[in-house]
Amino acid sequence: QHSADAPPVRANQEFLRFAASVLLHTDPARHAILYDLLWRMQAKPRLLSDASDPVVRRANLLAKAVGRDIHKMRAFVRFREVLDTDNTPHYVAWFEPQFAILRANAKFFVGRFASMQWTILTPIGSIHWDGAALHEGPAADLSQAPADDPAEDLWRTYYASIFNPARLKVKAMVKEMPRRYWKNLPEASLIPDLIAGAQAREAAMVSIGSDAFAGVAEPESLSDVAAGIAACKRCAIGCNGTRAVMGRGPTGSPLMLLGEAPGDSEEACGLPFVGPAGQVLRRHLAKAGLDADALYMTSSVKHFKFEHTTNQATGAKIRLHKNPSPGEIDHCRWWLEREIQFVNPRLIVALGASAARALTGRTVSVTKMRGAIKPLTTELSNGRHMLLTYHPSYMLRINGAAREEAEAAFAADLARARDWCATGGDIKA
Ligand code: URA
Repeated sequence: QHSADAPPVRANQEFLRFAASVLLHTDPARHAILYDLLWRMQAKPRLLSDASDPVVRRANLLAKAVGRDIHKMRAFVRFREVLDTDNTPHYVAWFEPQFAILRANAKFFVGRFASMQWTILTPIGSIHWDGAALHEGPAADLSQAPADDPAEDLWRTYYASIFNPARLKVKAMVKEMPRRYWKNLPEASLIPDLIAGAQAREAAMVSIGSDAFAGVAEPESLSDVAAGIAACKRCAIGCNGTRAVMGRGPTGSPLMLLGEAPGDSEEACGLPFVGPAGQVLRRHLAKAGLDADALYMTSSVKHFKFEHTTNQATGAKIRLHKNPSPGEIDHCRWWLEREIQFVNPRLIVALGASAARALTGRTVSVTKMRGAIKPLTTELSNGRHMLLTYHPSYMLRINGAAREEAEAAFAADLARARDWCATGGDIKA
């Protein structure tokens, strides 16, 4: 009972955040636990830091279980593509959370899949993103979710190809992917066979035959290319749940800068070259008198390839960049060629070996080929030339004299590209 002249009940931000998480648990004692904590916090505001308090300990366990469920939903939601009546793709996923985490996770999915239209159906409610606004809907059952789609074969192929039974630790795997989640994961159907097979497999990304693009309608504009890339699931990176990062800049720009693949920051913003390597690049462009907004920047592969790891210094979980494989670069060339067609640059500066591979289809040594302007010989060349230079991230990996040397070479290459474009390509290659 709280009488009118009693002092007001106080709760700090930490408690409010903590309580919001504990309340998502299904434990029937959760309200009583929070009441007890709030009541005692009036006299002992730092109660939550007392790890020896049994109620604090119990509440921590509830919050931790909720946090784990939130994480598992982020990792294990698998969208299936369905076509709306107007033929636009709509992505629908079925997920069974353990706790009431749906609303708490909505913002994450909106951020991650902002450019898609999607619905997540769960037994406790549904959320729907139409590209502009989020709507909540009623609880659903599995029969409302679409059945298998071709992308799931890809997931299975991918999962089978990265699965290495030689390094199999069943206990650790089940901890990461609890059996509860298995039944709704396409790849999980493979697990018993993969374990039984117990054959060391190369942990390679799936590489799909070039006929993956057979029958795909030719894009009619750069925005068709962007839409196609955003929905592309023809390789394992395209299926990893990250958003695609399309190139940016004016069409008709005589100069295109071609990198490797978006990184963590690019994926977060949906824009190319905004992360640490992008900063190096932009600094050099400014120094060379090149307006970054007046040229076209893109990457050879349009999705962020990464592996989850822990930062040794801070303990934070991070997404560590991984280089796309030659197969993945070759695969994504289908899109790059069309992007080049619409932008129609005269000179493409290939930033690093992956970009050189994307343009030539061959493995090229940056050290040997750097700095020369060469005509492109692929069928889309159309009089276009390429200049190979370092990827700006290279400068971030070296120090001292080596870095100074690389920066000077990079600056000279950009100046050469600038002059070649400015003089209509008259400078001797
Ligand atoms: N490297 C790239 O190749 N592209 C980006 O967008 C960022 C870094």
